[in-house]
Amino acid sequence: MQKLEQLYEGKAKKVFKTDDPELLIVDYKDDATAFNGLKKGSIAGKGVINNQMSNRLMAKLEKAGVPTHFVQELSPRETLVKKVSIVPLEVIVRNLSAGSFAKRYGVEEGIVFDAPTIEFSYKNDELGDPLLNSYHALALKLATAEEIDTIKRYAFQVNDFLKALWAECGVILVDFKLEFGRLADGSIVLADEISPDTCRLWDEKTHEKLDKDRFRRDLGGVEDAYAEIMKRLMDHDAD
Ligand code: TMP
Repeated sequence: MQKLEQLYEGKAKKVFKTDDPELLIVDYKDDATAFNGLKKGSIAGKGVINNQMSNRLMAKLEKAGVPTHFVQELSPRETLVKKVSIVPLEVIVRNLSAGSFAKRYGVEEGIVFDAPTIEFSYKNDELGDPLLNSYHALALKLATAEEIDTIKRYAFQVNDFLKALWAECGVILVDFKLEFGRLADGSIVLADEISPDTCRLWDEKTHEKLDKDRFRRDLGGVEDAYAEIMKRLMDHDAD
């Protein structure tokens, strides 16, 4: 597989063409941003951890029946993925109150919901990723009704699977963000990444944050938290 010219550089990843028009190479960076790029920094080793964690989780999800873009890990920071056209929705599933949910509705963080919630944001940096509902997504022609149904079904399936997996690692899956894409045949697959950048992960006993909130909120120990959460997953998989 040949790595050809760069197609795109995002905040945390670069994407390259390959000699196969259906496949791309994603290259994970250590760069970190928050608040729509307002806060900038770097988390040493993050690219390697996010690449390897996302690939492990997507491989497990694929086996559990959720189709993903993952094809093959090529190196510590590089992965071969199926080319998709991204559905411009950030799909957020929450099991406990935290972050923008707690702020928006004026509640404390850490309230356990009776059932998971789902919400969508319009993936649009200029607009600051505004919250929208499925009717808005339809009106804006961001996805079809059938695609939105599929996305919701996959998102809750991902939640059920990952919540149980992280529980076995002594970790609470508080919330996370997913992105989906369309393959050439129009089918919907899970894309982007699943990592400590895109999930809130708390130690089940201490509620210590083992995710990007340590960077967003200047809590310190960012690199150690990424290393710890990766170790929990590796230890789990080794058992
Ligand atoms: P929020 O509470 O700030 O809306 O975040 C919800 C989840 O989505 C949290 O796990 C972090 C993740 N997230 C991203 O992956 N990218 C983003 O740009 C934002 C704002 C949140």
